[in-house]
Amino acid sequence: MTSATAPLRKAVLPAAGFGTRFLPITKSIPKEMLPVGDKPVIHYVVAEAVAAGCTDILIVVSRDKGSIVDYFDRAPDLERRLRASGKDEAADEIVRIATQARFHFIRQPEMKGLGDAVLQARDHVGDEPFALLLADTMIVDANGRPGSPAALDALSVAHADTGASAVAIEPVPADRISRYGVVGGTECAPGRFALDRMVEKPAPADAPAVRRLDGTRDPGGWAFAARYLFTPGIFEHLARTPPGKNNEIQLTDAMAALLAEEGFSGCRLPGERLDIGNPAGLLEANRRVLSL
Ligand code: G1P
Repeated sequence: MTSATAPLRKAVLPAAGFGTRFLPITKSIPKEMLPVGDKPVIHYVVAEAVAAGCTDILIVVSRDKGSIVDYFDRAPDLERRLRASGKDEAADEIVRIATQARFHFIRQPEMKGLGDAVLQARDHVGDEPFALLLADTMIVDANGRPGSPAALDALSVAHADTGASAVAIEPVPADRISRYGVVGGTECAPGRFALDRMVEKPAPADAPAVRRLDGTRDPGGWAFAARYLFTPGIFEHLARTPPGKNNEIQLTDAMAALLAEEGFSGCRLPGERLDIGNPAGLLEANRRVLSL
């Protein structure tokens, strides 16, 4: 296991999926590039990683996702044009987007699932803990603001305490449980959980349960909330994970194997998760950001 106190430097953002729930627009525009206010969704996810201290960002893309690469690249012609016409503020913003961290991109050759997308990061990440942020999900704080480091900070604290991996989790009602990776475990301090099971998209009747500090059980369950901190041990398990649910290599299956080996913390998500992977979620995110 790696040092429990190593600062989190690297973040991995999988952004390789088809975006089928957003067809036909995702035929030519990656879902991560859909606008929330005047910025693409992935802008806010990167801002969150940078706010948490990550200086190295690896985005896992696929064919036809070149606009994501362009967005985080310098655009010298545009910068010159903006400065020549006195629009220095706009030019500064364009430069800041490309220089806020070191950006790297890798292609997932085949769409074999989220677990396979994360496995593409193996050589780049090497032997240190890293953050994983799903690029189609924004987290907003209590004031509705995106870009807060609170979720990754909570995961870092849990990792520093235990040396193990940690995942943000949130309660979800029974009728939505089968959309998510769902955990079982015990709350050991307010908002902190020792996990003992992980199941990808279970039927409500098969969902594992979480025991709260006060001994109660939630009627639904607790689901992954799109932010993770992994020890590099996850890669060994991903490499061995066969296709699971939907015939895809499931990150959740590799996480369950890592849990058996190293243990795993759950941290109640500070803030609210906005799933941008469907039109209603995108509309809600726009409503929040535009009313700030
Ligand atoms: C993925 C994961 C799932 C997780 C969800 C949201 O599912 O497989 O475990 O709960 O993201 O964080 P997807 O939304 O890609 O189907």
